[in-house]
Amino acid sequence: MLSLKTPHQLLESFRARFGSAASIYRAPGRVNLIGEHTDYNDGFVLPAAIAFYCWAAAAPRRDGKLVIHSENFDETVQADLDSLSPFGKKHWSNYPLGVAWALRQAGKPLFGANIYIAGDIPFGAGLSSSAAVEVATAFALLSQSGLTIDRSELAQLCQKAENEFVGARVGIMDQFISCHGHASHVLLLDCRSLEHQWVKIPEGLQLVICNTMVKHELASSEYNARRSECEEGVRLLQRAFPEIHALRDVTLSQLQEHRESLPPKIFSRCRHVITENERVKSAVEAFRHGNLTALAPLMRDSHCSLRDDYEVSCRELDVMVEIAAVQPGLIGARMTGGGFGGCTVNLVESAAVSNFSRNVAEAYSSKTGLSPEIYVSPASDGAEQIFLNESKPEE
Ligand code: GLA
Repeated sequence: MLSLKTPHQLLESFRARFGSAASIYRAPGRVNLIGEHTDYNDGFVLPAAIAFYCWAAAAPRRDGKLVIHSENFDETVQADLDSLSPFGKKHWSNYPLGVAWALRQAGKPLFGANIYIAGDIPFGAGLSSSAAVEVATAFALLSQSGLTIDRSELAQLCQKAENEFVGARVGIMDQFISCHGHASHVLLLDCRSLEHQWVKIPEGLQLVICNTMVKHELASSEYNARRSECEEGVRLLQRAFPEIHALRDVTLSQLQEHRESLPPKIFSRCRHVITENERVKSAVEAFRHGNLTALAPLMRDSHCSLRDDYEVSCRELDVMVEIAAVQPGLIGARMTGGGFGGCTVNLVESAAVSNFSRNVAEAYSSKTGLSPEIYVSPASDGAEQIFLNESKPEE
């Protein structure tokens, strides 16, 4: 795992590279407790921001250029704000450049900037390191240009950057929680209206994230395929229910009534989304009433639905969840994020966390031959400015 820099070290690295003082911003990664593959179906999600961050140190430039250095990739790119275009396929710089592009498309008069990006969110682990890069960059660019915007609008612009500039058809969850995270809380988000409420995580529980350390190649192509299958489901169901716009609008009984008119695979995809939305609402009720025993079956059913109906799990995720299920102190476990590898999320009684982490790591290694990483993270606040350099920009 990457080591976290202190703000002071980050300022020194910035000065060594760009020769000036800087301001510092940071945006967190996230873990999703329940509500997977529901965001792009106008549904409900329940993520928390985690204490792993993308940091951006930035200072303005007067020549309309963006010069962005990634510490993680040890590479610098330069671009003109007036002619932004993607930099090769899957290049890291497309995330920050895409954010500048989306902000400009929305009419924000940005200054040029030098930006130094560094992060400790594990890459490819399904903890939204890309959304954190986007949100940290957006905070830096706006602040350095003397602009402020609403956090929800900012999340939408970062999503637009990823959809249209990077070319990944992701939903709004990751950018939204990176902007709106709140310490000790999960966020119930209605991905259609963007109405949201924070729900307190009951005292005495911790979020334990278990990284399988695998990322199967299928992830991005299968993600887009799942989206298309959901859209196909909506098109077919609209014949019977012309008023529906998304799977969010369909009930389980409506789906079951029209089972015959859907190919089996499309039926299963729709069933996952519809039942998962219900599970999110039940999980929120369980949290609010402190009814923790209700969470275990909800998280387990979510995992099974993702494995069997949505087909986005993999052997390593299933093994990790099975191992967690028999550990003392576990409240609930499931895969989290897009799937095909990455992490599981576990709600664990605080007193049991260290044994849980050790046992899961040992059992997973012996079953798979892989060494997992286990992260214990508090639910954390969303993106913020950490330090503002108030001296005049240097020439
Ligand atoms: C990825 C996407 C999100 C969401 C999840 C699955 O993290 O970025 O928008 O669709 O997968 O729930």
